Amino acid sequence: MSKGKYYLTTPIYYVNAAPHIGHAYTSIAAETIARFKRMQGYDVVLTTGTDEHGTKVERAAHAQGKSPEEFVDLISAEFRETWQKLDLQMDRFQRTTNKNHGKIVNELFEACKKNGYIYKGTYTGLYAVVSEAFVNDAKPGDIDPETGKPYEELTEENYFFKLSAFTDRLLEFYEKHPDFMLPEIRRNEILAFVKQGLTDLSITRTSIKWGIPVESDPAHVFYVWFDALTTYVSAVDGENRWPADLHLIGKEILRFHTVFWPAFLMAAGWELPKHVFAHGWLLFENDKMSKSRGNIVRPAPIADTMGVDALRYFLLREIVFGQDGSFSFDALVGRYNSDLANGLGNLASRSLSMLQQYREGATPPSFADNELSAEISATYKEVVAHYEAFDFSKALERVWTLITKIDKLIVQVAPWKLAKDQSLEAQQNLDRILFTSLESLRIISGLVSPVLPHSAQRIWEQLGYSDQVATHSIEEFQWNGAKLPAKIGEIAGVFPRLDTQATVQKMQDLEEVEKARQAALLGHAPKPEPSVPTAPLAPIITIDDFSKVDLRVGEVKSAEKVKGADKLLHLKVDIGEAEPRTIVAGIALAYQPEQLIGRKVVIVANLEPRKLRGLTSQGMIVAASLDGGTPVLASFLESVPVGARLK
Ligand code: ME8
Ligand code: MG
Repeated sequence: MSKGKYYLTTPIYYVNAAPHIGHAYTSIAAETIARFKRMQGYDVVLTTGTDEHGTKVERAAHAQGKSPEEFVDLISAEFRETWQKLDLQMDRFQRTTNKNHGKIVNELFEACKKNGYIYKGTYTGLYAVVSEAFVNDAKPGDIDPETGKPYEELTEENYFFKLSAFTDRLLEFYEKHPDFMLPEIRRNEILAFVKQGLTDLSITRTSIKWGIPVESDPAHVFYVWFDALTTYVSAVDGENRWPADLHLIGKEILRFHTVFWPAFLMAAGWELPKHVFAHGWLLFENDKMSKSRGNIVRPAPIADTMGVDALRYFLLREIVFGQDGSFSFDALVGRYNSDLANGLGNLASRSLSMLQQYREGATPPSFADNELSAEISATYKEVVAHYEAFDFSKALERVWTLITKIDKLIVQVAPWKLAKDQSLEAQQNLDRILFTSLESLRIISGLVSPVLPHSAQRIWEQLGYSDQVATHSIEEFQWNGAKLPAKIGEIAGVFPRLDTQATVQKMQDLEEVEKARQAALLGHAPKPEPSVPTAPLAPIITIDDFSKVDLRVGEVKSAEKVKGADKLLHLKVDIGEAEPRTIVAGIALAYQPEQLIGRKVVIVANLEPRKLRGLTSQGMIVAASLDGGTPVLASFLESVPVGARLK
């Protein structure tokens, strides 16, 4: 019976590099919540996907010698395959390049526009490439901490979103919905940000090609966050699922989700999501694990060596959800051995083999209560409450407290002694401890199954069940909440103990293999240039016509931007004359001034001089013109002297 719908999301991940366990952290947590909600009886949909537009992706593609389309297909597939490898049941995988998505982004834009929250303006600012946003409080020359280079200056005509109109409405909304942003500790930071007053937001670009066109004004493409956030709606288009119950995200993108996103939705008159939960960062080698820093751990080597449940358990048990926490291979194997092999694994094999040995696997009769039944009922209630609060580490800790208590009780009751005593009382006591340990194991396998789906299922089958533990209602996992099978199944170890050093070594070796595979896949060798639709040929000329054109090899001596013209560079080019020539060239979007100095180029040396922006251009630089107008300068493979004529 369905308790209703529950719709939750992970962020859609950038495709500028391959997935790592930081991304897996969010996806695993989300999938655990989805599993838990399903066991509570909700009709759950979990969506994930990839964020594929913007300068960063365009550049990454370019650096690999690939078209953006080719590049995003490859990396998006890497994400999809990673979730498959980790056995994560993602119900929808939405890509920002999907057609149905572009349609919804335009609908959101038009709805905001119709309601008066969109206007056109120009914007000049310093732009952070990694976070794809203008940086309001930076000064020219400031270093972008994410790239280590100065912020880039960008001027363009944009559509603006009137975020400033939403300051009060947002504050009112937060007030009315105190559990909108979770955990509690993140609220103050957002409240303080909104209270200082919001500034309007540019939401389109004209300088970028790689984006969703604004249908009503196709010179513009949408700014990545307006595009990206809308996947939460487009992923379930036509399914009557919106609004989402939960957006699960990392803390660095909280502002986008709790300020910009609700404001966009309010402006359009669309419904707002119920909750946004921001978790902390996974650290590795004392720093946030991130592709820009390069300190990443890939999920596949861990899954192949230890199984996916070991990774799930580690991430959700070791780190308090909401806070930062560290990953290390040693700690991963350590937790596995102490909690899974020695804790749960040991309880399972002990309980099942005692039953095999003393009762030939036949389940003893149940009974109403004993010294542990109250404890077990309390465990159930607390674990459910912790899951509901997304407090996975507490939920697991509580289960493991119970495991310790059962272990103690077994030692105290000593079934191995009772087994030797044929008195009725001793045999009844033996039945009771055997039932208690088995019933506990049943309950524990249900309670841990959202986090440990595969291992819980293996224990479930050893208890004698032939169905899926995950299909059972969470409410069954209380004392006598359901019947045990008459006979247990075949016993097999669930968590074999692992040698720490050998296991860590194996994962690190596989990590190298995986890294190499991804490098080969992404191809560092540039691919052939994308072909240009052939322009119609110019009319035939004679050799004499051609010889009228004086083409010379030149060397760029200086280069600088032309004030007020973002496409022009002012070059001084030596072509072997007394003075270098002044050349004004429309190549500023494709080349940085400093990368041209010292470069050999081809100049049309006898072209009539031309005035451009107060400068007299004494010639023209020769370049191939790609689709979309991007220039690529002609150059030489062999060394050539300055002033040589081309004929
Ligand atoms: O921000 N620790 O994508 P992204 C914890 N496309 N979580 C981590 C993590 C780490 N070290 N590294 C990544 C974007 N994550 C946008 C989102 S949503 C409309 C658009 C997880 O590829 C965490 O969930 O940078 C974080 O918020 C997300 O990946 C960022 O992924
Ligand atoms: Mg990021």
